[in-house]
Amino acid sequence: MQDAVNQEIRLAKFAQVFVGANQLIFGLERVLVIWIGANLALQSVFSVGMLIAYLAYKDQFALRMAGLVDRAIEFRLLRLHGERLADIVQSEPESSNPGGLGRPDSLRGIEIRNVSYRYSEGEPWIVNDCSFTIKHGDSVAIVGESGCGKTTLVKLILGLLKPDKGSLLIGGIDTSQLATNDLRAMIGAVMQDDQLFAGSIAENISFFDSDLDFDRVQRVAELAAIHLDISAMPMGYQTLIGDMGSSLSGGQKQRIVLARALYRNPLVLVLDEATSHLDVMKERLVSDAIKSLPITRIIIAHRPETIASADRVLVMEQGRIVHEFGAQVQLETASP
Ligand SMILES: Nc1ncnc2c1ncn2[C@@H]1O[C@H](COP(=O)(O)OP(=O)(O)OP(=O)(O)O)[C@@H](O)[C@H]1O
Ligand SMILES: [Mg+2]
Repeated sequence: MQDAVNQEIRLAKFAQVFVGANQLIFGLERVLVIWIGANLALQSVFSVGMLIAYLAYKDQFALRMAGLVDRAIEFRLLRLHGERLADIVQSEPESSNPGGLGRPDSLRGIEIRNVSYRYSEGEPWIVNDCSFTIKHGDSVAIVGESGCGKTTLVKLILGLLKPDKGSLLIGGIDTSQLATNDLRAMIGAVMQDDQLFAGSIAENISFFDSDLDFDRVQRVAELAAIHLDISAMPMGYQTLIGDMGSSLSGGQKQRIVLARALYRNPLVLVLDEATSHLDVMKERLVSDAIKSLPITRIIIAHRPETIASADRVLVMEQGRIVHEFGAQVQLETASP
């Protein structure tokens, strides 16, 4: 703190010296220019009219030069913005795997076989020899202490990360053989740090679908228990929300992101702490609505109430599933 304050004081002193020097230089320059002009006028080289014109031109010249310097600085900033954009523009697009094996049969569920993953070589394995299966239509909760690798496991299932060892089968087909589009179309996900985009609520729910199906938007909003909140807003589904969904509460944001995942009619729904900001009543509403859907659900949660909505509970520890509970026992035992 002391260092920071000292540096701030130094900076303020420096800025003051800079402003002082700046004013001194420009003041002296003005004195010098007038002195030269006045001398020339006294020596009758200049007429008085010419002196006035000379000073006016000098002022204009100084103003334009200052403008030029400002533009030069703006150009430099433009390069900086360009470099930031380049990060996005030049990043390699996801290879759209043609997937010779056809569409997966969702009725065969998800199978994870001895999957291991680490973020880079030399780092510890985050998912370590992990195996389990999820039948179609199952509702499975994955629990475990913070940092044990739940989100990483979900990213592997979503195909956002590729396993280093082992294989992941969705609908009986290895994900490495699946067409990326087919995989994306099958799975809807709400991740821990999902964001909303600048646009209306309806656009956010439909994910900027070019032919927006408004009935479906409303239906999924009802499922996600956000319909009443949206209807209460003056502009309803056309309410504009900012880059970060700034005009919404954390729980409203979460429910809109959930509606967005449901809009795509997924066969598998992955919820990574998707209802952590909701109160217990709202969460039960959402849980019951999701329960009624004939899809496979993978729920990651810390709250006992959320976990209780699943049929099976898998306990993750150090990158693998070490335990499994049935539907009933969990409430007393599984409070991580
Ligand atoms: N992009 C990344 N690069 C390197 N390491 C990462 C990355 N993302 C996560 N990790 C590490 O992987 C481990 C597991 O992270 P993960 O996000 O899977 O945990 P989690 O079980 O979802 O935790 P939480 O319950 O807090 O969400 C952590 O130790 C984390 O530091
Ligand atoms: Mg996580």
